[in-house]
Amino acid sequence: MIELAALNARHGIPGQVTFKQGPGGPVVGEVTNAHASATLALQGAQVLTWAPRGQSPAIWLSRAARFVPGKSIRGGAPVCWPWFGPHATDPGLPAHGYARTVPWEVVETRALDDGATELALALVENDQTRAMWRHRARLSLRVTVGRTLKLALATLNAGNEDFVIGEALHTYFAIGDIADIRIAGLEGGEYLDKVGGGSVRRRQDGPISFAAETDRIYLNTEAECAIEDARLKRRIRIAKSGSRSTVVWNPWAAKADKMGDLGPDGWRGMVCVESANAADNVVTVKAGASHTLAVEYRVEPL
Ligand code: BG6
Repeated sequence: MIELAALNARHGIPGQVTFKQGPGGPVVGEVTNAHASATLALQGAQVLTWAPRGQSPAIWLSRAARFVPGKSIRGGAPVCWPWFGPHATDPGLPAHGYARTVPWEVVETRALDDGATELALALVENDQTRAMWRHRARLSLRVTVGRTLKLALATLNAGNEDFVIGEALHTYFAIGDIADIRIAGLEGGEYLDKVGGGSVRRRQDGPISFAAETDRIYLNTEAECAIEDARLKRRIRIAKSGSRSTVVWNPWAAKADKMGDLGPDGWRGMVCVESANAADNVVTVKAGASHTLAVEYRVEPL
């Protein structure tokens, strides 16, 4: 409780940013301003919700999400880093890296002149993280909550040897119904189809629509894409930089049932569109250099 009071004294902004004990333990920052409201868990620096003012949530958080220290939270915008998917050589290491399940610290919060709110967080390394990944890196996430939501994930190589990272902002978007959306912007692109556990190369024909489990890594694409949602009559635009892969995922019914934390029919109301660097597109960060993956999400009427 004293820690929470100190956190609020240092980084709270009256009327805009308040840190609270979240469900199940992890501390959550609540952000509200003239443009939007959002919440963010300090564990994993994970944005949990974002709703532009007057709109239903644009980011999906499972109603059955579990808030357990050290476990990933189903929904929001998990940070996958320093690898994407299963570890390349050691299946004992956590899927999607460890950044999403360890504590981060708040470095700075700011009320911007345009009414948006910015929060900067940094991953806290410890012996456990160093045992999983031996490189010296500094990882930070800048979150700007406004009429749009901006996330910028920066990796600084603080060591004296180059290293390779895979990463993703694994965002779950809220949709009317998975059968009634399509994703534009990836037409003609090459992707790895991971359904069934394999990795088959295919090419996208037209916009993406959904009628079964979908788990794809679109390669070599910096394109903006858009979720066109006929039921909610809105489009969510996803612009990105420093990202050469886009992952599109929906588990569909059977897999969702096995996962246990999506809630009844939860899979119908979500789609992940992840701005990533994965598979062919992993990034080499040279000693002393840094790399930033950034996104901006915007909601507009369809
Ligand atoms: C996606 C992967 O990014 O994340 C899927 O492409 C995976 O294969 C999904 O199932 C969810 O992963 P997790 O570890 O959060 O259950």
